[in-house]
Amino acid sequence: MLTPKGRGTLSEALFEGLRTSPSSWDSICQVLPDNDEDVHISLWALYELHYRGFEDVDDELEWHPDVIGLRRSLEMGFEHELRDRQPDIKVDGPFAETFFAYVAAHDGASLANFLQRDADLEQMLEVLRLRSIYHLKESDPTAWVVPRLSTVTKAALMELQYDEYGCGDPHRLHSGLFAQGLEACGLRSEYGSYIDDVPLEVLEENNAMSLFGLNRRLRGAALGHLAAFEATSSLPSRRVAQGLERLGLPQEMIRYYEEHVEADAVHEQLAVRTICGSLVEAEPALLPDVFFGAFTCLDLEDRFARRVLDGWQS
Ligand SMILES: [Fe+2]
Ligand SMILES: [Fe+2]
Repeated sequence: MLTPKGRGTLSEALFEGLRTSPSSWDSICQVLPDNDEDVHISLWALYELHYRGFEDVDDELEWHPDVIGLRRSLEMGFEHELRDRQPDIKVDGPFAETFFAYVAAHDGASLANFLQRDADLEQMLEVLRLRSIYHLKESDPTAWVVPRLSTVTKAALMELQYDEYGCGDPHRLHSGLFAQGLEACGLRSEYGSYIDDVPLEVLEENNAMSLFGLNRRLRGAALGHLAAFEATSSLPSRRVAQGLERLGLPQEMIRYYEEHVEADAVHEQLAVRTICGSLVEAEPALLPDVFFGAFTCLDLEDRFARRVLDGWQS
């Protein structure tokens, strides 16, 4: 993958810097972003240095202190904003029941309902392109969390991740199933192909997962995000599979969503009861962050759904 297109003064300066490795980063680090898209495409690219990097960027820059410093300042601003978005919540009672009730009470726009019944072919393909930014690296942000956990939580997370990564079979990785689906639909399946097309909401969703995954202190938020994600996946996956079927799209893509109907019905129990349950038992101080991660997952998905649905209505 090559560096994406800049979306403002900061990202243009940053991507030029990443491609040319200047001797001084001072002038780049002092550039103020033009807007949120400029911030989030910059942050997305800075995080990407820790995943697979870019063909036109020197791998050495992953740990360059000025590059890390810029990432820190952007991600701290983003974390503050995410925390400000969360309404106060009162958590009492047994963890798993409280968590499931919290997720169930969250009311947001349903993109899956629209895809199931009403979306036309172009709209469905648009969603697949936008989703590809995450699904082609599905579960990778959560993998950062593994070494930061104690025994019970770690074992449970690895049980879930083992499934996501295909149980040892390279043809069954969820990211690989999605890539096969994209190809069968005539879309590009290379990692990051559609990054220049995605709106702010997709960048925020991806950046939140990297923020939580890469900062050890945010492991509670990372696992709360995972649990909310898994707990809101099974039924919507069935709806999307039915929408794909209705539009006559290929079985490869339907298979990806059908795989998630069954898998995520199991994963939600594992993620909420065992992974997050054991985490908050071992480290009760992380409880608020588990709910912070869950809220962020649900809220960013609402923002994404509204952005897409509003775009189609206008
Ligand atoms: Fe998955
Ligand atoms: Fe899953």
